[in-house]
Amino acid sequence: MVLRLGSCIVILVISLCDVGVAKLAPDFIHPCNQTTKECLVKATQDAIPDFVKGIPDLGLPSLDPFVIDKLAIPLNGLKVTFYQGKVTGFRNCIVDNVISELEKRHFVLEFHCNLTIKGQYDAVGQILVFPINGEGDAKVKLTNLRMKVDINTKYIKDNKGVNHFSIKNYKYTFDYGDKVTFDLQNLFKESKELSNTVLTFLNENWKTVAEEFGKPIVDYAVELAIRTIEKFFLVVPYEELINIPIPQN
Ligand SMILES: *[C@@H]1O[C@H](CO)[C@@H](O)[C@H](O)[C@H]1NC(C)=O
Ligand SMILES: *[C@@H]1O[C@H](CO)[C@@H](O)[C@H](O)[C@H]1NC(C)=O
Repeated sequence: MVLRLGSCIVILVISLCDVGVAKLAPDFIHPCNQTTKECLVKATQDAIPDFVKGIPDLGLPSLDPFVIDKLAIPLNGLKVTFYQGKVTGFRNCIVDNVISELEKRHFVLEFHCNLTIKGQYDAVGQILVFPINGEGDAKVKLTNLRMKVDINTKYIKDNKGVNHFSIKNYKYTFDYGDKVTFDLQNLFKESKELSNTVLTFLNENWKTVAEEFGKPIVDYAVELAIRTIEKFFLVVPYEELINIPIPQN
């Protein structure tokens, strides 16, 4: 009995120690020793392809692909709904700049990506001058979507006294980049010819069209990415993300 209890305690202590020293950050996290642009850009670029796959052990969802089950986009005079929109491409995003001001609790991330959204849609109403009544397959491709995310952070301690980054708030700006291509089947249920004509028109005017109905989709993607990063911060300690002591002021 004493022996069993003894080994039990030993096992308990060992496993507690394990928890104490175990690294939570996945291997693709390469902490910087300085907040130089060079190191931060490289570390972020290194982490993206694996990070966006999702980390089930840490409860983090996949960002590439991610699925938008249903997204209704209410527009002036047109109601568009996307179903089962599968978004791919984040794994190939190119990081252009990262700024981390630890004392100011400020973080900026700039990148550009080619993204594809595939799914189904229905639309009723009017796009520009055309009356629409359609549903079918939808594919939208964005070439070199450029984005800048500006995050105010704070430092928190979890209930074990371990430091973590936390997101206080964020804002972002983006532009649709070099080209957006739409492939929306059956814009008019009644006429294939008219459907093709309008689709051509939409593609010729991609910028205006994207500006009219793209923002809810981008908002959705950014919000999902931010929430995922936030969860990651809650799990992985500050000290495993950057080799610089946490600012005390
Ligand atoms: C940070 O410093 C450690 C120890 O000198 C080194 O092993 C590691 O490679 C450095 N990290 C980076 C990203 O340069
Ligand atoms: C996106 O695709 C274009 C054209 O195919 C290519 O020139 C560009 O380098 C790609 N951008 C990224 C971020 O992969």
